[in-house]
Amino acid sequence: MVLDCDPGHDDAMALLLAIADPAVELLAVTTVTGNQTVDKCTVNARRVLSLAGVADVPVARGADRPLVRRLRIADDVHGQTGLDGPRFDTEPSVPESPSAAHDVLVDVLRKHPTPVTIVATGALTNIARLLSAEPSLTTKIAEIVWMGGSTDRGNIAPLAEANAYVDPEAADQVLRSDVPFTMCGLNVTHQALVTDDVLGHLNQIGTPLAGICVEWMTFFASTYRRLWGFEAPPLHDPVAVARVIDPAIVGCVEANVVIETQGEWTAGATVVDLFNYTGRPSNARVAVELDREAFWTKIADAVAALG
Ligand code: RIB
Ligand code: CA
Repeated sequence: MVLDCDPGHDDAMALLLAIADPAVELLAVTTVTGNQTVDKCTVNARRVLSLAGVADVPVARGADRPLVRRLRIADDVHGQTGLDGPRFDTEPSVPESPSAAHDVLVDVLRKHPTPVTIVATGALTNIARLLSAEPSLTTKIAEIVWMGGSTDRGNIAPLAEANAYVDPEAADQVLRSDVPFTMCGLNVTHQALVTDDVLGHLNQIGTPLAGICVEWMTFFASTYRRLWGFEAPPLHDPVAVARVIDPAIVGCVEANVVIETQGEWTAGATVVDLFNYTGRPSNARVAVELDREAFWTKIADAVAALG
């Protein structure tokens, strides 16, 4: 798989899961603006790979703004660095790829012998650009699995989830493509709450990396408490990776999904037709159910395996 992300506390945990789980091979990491500027998200991706001891996976910088809209970052949620919490005194050892995200994606898709799954845990800007510039490569994409959207309400606007809201036009383009698409929205990621119990298990692992994860989750918990009154923060992005690792962990239904790009009050809303009111054919698998125990076991195993 390739992970296109905007780290981000939950993106960082998604990266660790993708690196460590033996069921998947992480071929490249590409970054996109979202939780912070793409500059900061790229440093954070390099940081996570450095902490995990991964030197052979390219980290490539992607879009620094949405396709047409003005950039809105989420520093209120993820802090000034995009990955606030623990402080690091040195630069991450993993370098940034000299190639842009677009070129790395093209290269991976062209060269890999079998179709590649793209997991996207930020706005879909890089992926929309890829599909429009390289239509012949769509057959080389096994599936796009996105953390974004919601069957319910939003988290940045009443009806819009943040990754959809940042670049609705990109999400719209991706959904109109023929590439198989799975949406892991807030309705399912809000089942992945980092409760005290979960934090306790991470703490018990006792490694430096586990300690850093606990600090990240503690920071994330503080913003979710302050902004939304959550008792425990939802770990959104690893749900999309878990769906690829073992589809049984994240139960999905088929549905038609469209993205609102025009609405005066509803831009970025994912309109998920769970009951087929519209009669439009399904164009997505929509995640609805999380096997919490299996999910948290995967996360803990990944952190423990990375030492
Ligand atoms: O709405 C949650 C999503 O927005 C997550 O991907 C988080 O990292 C932010 O990008
Ligand atoms: Ca993200």
